[in-house]
Amino acid sequence: MTPRPIVLLLSGPNLNLLGERQPLIYGSATLDDLVGLARATADAHGLDLEHVQSNHEGDLVDAVQGARGRCAALVVNAAALTHYGRSLHDALLTFEGPLVELHISNPHSREEWRHESVVSPIATAVVAGFGGAGYRLAIDGVAELLRPPPAGSTEEGSDR
Ligand code: DQA
Repeated sequence: MTPRPIVLLLSGPNLNLLGERQPLIYGSATLDDLVGLARATADAHGLDLEHVQSNHEGDLVDAVQGARGRCAALVVNAAALTHYGRSLHDALLTFEGPLVELHISNPHSREEWRHESVVSPIATAVVAGFGGAGYRLAIDGVAELLRPPPAGSTEEGSDR
């Protein structure tokens, strides 16, 4: 049996506090709930899901490096590192597959400093502002991006 493609979901600083952190903005679901939703969605698409959460940028850099040549796609909610994490940006640049940037809230409708993203310019796609449902939508999007083009199609695939 051929192994199922692996999607790596990365969660940045403070996302471990989901459920108790600013529920009016981020909702009442815990990170475990959202990872469970992402995993069930991945499973329905025939994908395996791995998840790494860290409050430390270097851990996320290590996780991206470990995904190279092993994982089919990345889904990244870099949390506040989205806005200034240059070493995470550089690590993500080395990943060869689709990269989906994910946010629970819509950072563009919030404070000015959240409008800049070091991930967006290198992301294949962005999912933001759908609350916890974004975890399902991001995995649905990854499945779409990984789907091989129909035979004979001239449509270009994702190449960042
Ligand atoms: C977030 C948005 C970021 O601006 C913030 O720092 C987070 C969460 C989101 O999922 O909406 O921690 O990435």
